[in-house]
Amino acid sequence: MRILQLSAEIFPLLKTGGLADIAGALPAALGAAGCDVRVLLPGFPAILAGLHDAMPIGRFTMPWGESVQVLAGRLSAVPDAARQPIHAYVLHAPGLFERPGNPYEDAQRRPYADNHRRFAALGWAAAHLAHGLDANWTPQLVHGHDWHAALAMACLKHWPGGVKRVPGVYTVHNLAYQGLFEARLFGDLGLPTAAFQVDGLEFHGQISFMKAGLFYADKITTVSPTYAREIQTSEQGFGLDGLLRARHNDLSGILNAVDAAVWNPALDVHIAHHFDAGHLAGKARCKAALQQESGLEIGKDAPLFTVVSRLTDQKGLHLVLAGIDDLLRGGAQLLVLGSGERELEQAFADAAQRHEGRLAVRIGYDELFAHRIFSGSDVTLVPSRFEPCGLTQIYGLLYGSLPLVRAVGGLADTVVDADLATLADQTATGIVFASFTEADYRHALRRALALYRQPRAWARVRQTGMRQDFSWTQAARRYTAVYQALLDP
Ligand code: ADP
Ligand code: GLC
Repeated sequence: MRILQLSAEIFPLLKTGGLADIAGALPAALGAAGCDVRVLLPGFPAILAGLHDAMPIGRFTMPWGESVQVLAGRLSAVPDAARQPIHAYVLHAPGLFERPGNPYEDAQRRPYADNHRRFAALGWAAAHLAHGLDANWTPQLVHGHDWHAALAMACLKHWPGGVKRVPGVYTVHNLAYQGLFEARLFGDLGLPTAAFQVDGLEFHGQISFMKAGLFYADKITTVSPTYAREIQTSEQGFGLDGLLRARHNDLSGILNAVDAAVWNPALDVHIAHHFDAGHLAGKARCKAALQQESGLEIGKDAPLFTVVSRLTDQKGLHLVLAGIDDLLRGGAQLLVLGSGERELEQAFADAAQRHEGRLAVRIGYDELFAHRIFSGSDVTLVPSRFEPCGLTQIYGLLYGSLPLVRAVGGLADTVVDADLATLADQTATGIVFASFTEADYRHALRRALALYRQPRAWARVRQTGMRQDFSWTQAARRYTAVYQALLDP
C-alpha cells in the first residue's frame, strides 16, 4: 500500500508536542508493517534544513495567485542504524512558511493571520500528489493528522473531474485545536461554494478545517479508545460531537505507541546512566544527577515528582499549583519543565522562588532535559482536564517514573490505578484519580506519597509499568487494517 502521511510537524526536525513524536515514528512503523510510506510537510525552515537530495517535482497555484513548489527528498530520520531515511515531499513556498519561531504563531503568540492559506496549500499539495504530481510515485491513500492536514480530505473529495477518488484517513490528535477562520476567507481555499455548508466545512458561520477533516475523510481515527468515545459527547465534543456520533461507524481509537529508538532507558543516548526493569541502579544515579542539575537537595528519600508539559489549560496545571504545599509537606520535591501560557509560566516561576531546593522550574522547551527528567523522576504528573492520548505518562511508565494521572482519554487507557486489588494481582502501574477537583488530586498525591513509603510495593508497581509494551507493532497493524478496509472494500 502506498500511503502519503500529512502533518505539520515531525520529530526530530520540528516538534511542539506529541503530534511530532507520532508523525516521526509512523513512517518506520508502517514500513515494518509492509506499507510504502512517504510524508508531506510544509517547508518550515527546520524541515527544509533536514531535507536531503531535494529535487523539484512540480508546482501548483493557489487561488490568491501564489505558486507553490513541491520538492521531493529524504529526511534524516531518528538516529537508529536500522532506520531508513524517510521519503518526503516538502512544500517550498517561502512566503507562507519561512518564518522564524513557532510554526503556527508569531512572536506575540498570535496565530498567523494567513494560517488558512498556509494549511490550504498543504491540503491541495496532497490532492495534487494523489492525482499524479509525481509521475514516479502516486499514493493510493492520504492520511492526514490534525487540523493543519484536514483540508486535504475536502480537496480529495472535491478534486475536479470524474477521475477515481483517492481515499483519505484523518486522525484527530486534539479536537481542541480546530483551525477556525472567518467565512470571508473561503475564496482562498480553492474549494467549490458547495463545500461551505452544514454538510461540509461550515461551522456556525465560520470555516472549520477540523470539520473538513471529520466530514470528508473516509475514515476517522483518534489516538485512544477512550477519547474516541469522549469526543462523541457534548462535554468533550467541542460542538462536533453530533457529526462524530453520526460517523461513529467510521471512527476508531488507535492508542499511540512509543518509538523505542528514542524512548528506552536501556539505550537512551541522552541519559548518563542506563537502566531497565531488572537493573535499577542507573535510575538512582540519574535521580541524583537530576537533583543536582536542577538545584534540588540531593537525596533518595524525597520522592521526586515531575512535570514535562505544554503549559496550557488542557494539562490541569492549576491542580499542580494548588497541590504544591501538600507535596512539599509530604517530603516530596517537584520539578517542572514547560512553556506556554504566560500566567502559568509566572505562577510556577514564583513558586520556585518561594521553595528553593525543593521545587525547581525551568521555563522553556528542552528535548534532552525531558529525557533526563523522566530518567531521574519518581512520579510523572499528568492531571489533565482532557487528554486525547498523552505520551509523557507513557514515557514515565517506561522510565520507571510512576504516572499520577486523571482518568480521562488516553490517560485512562494507559495507567492502572494502584488499589488493593491491583496491588495484589500486580497489575497496578500508577495512581489514577477520577474527578477534576483539587480534593481528588490532593488525595491522589497522598496515595502516591503513602505508596512511596512502602518500598516493596512501590518497586513492584514500577516494575510492572516498565514492562508494559508500548511498541508500534500493534498500532501499525490497526492503521493498516483501516487502510486495507478502504483499499479492498
Ligand atoms: P501534547 O501533545 O498535548 O503536548 P503529549 O504528552 O502527547 O502532549 O506529548 C508531549 C510531547 O512534548 C512529549 O514528547 C513531551 O516530552 C514533549 N514536551 C512537552 N513540553 C516539553 C518541554 N517543555 N520540553 C521538552 N519536551 C516537552
Ligand atoms: C495531542 C494530544 C495528546 C496526544 C498527542 C499525540 O497533542 O494533546 O494527548 O498524545 O496529540 O497524539
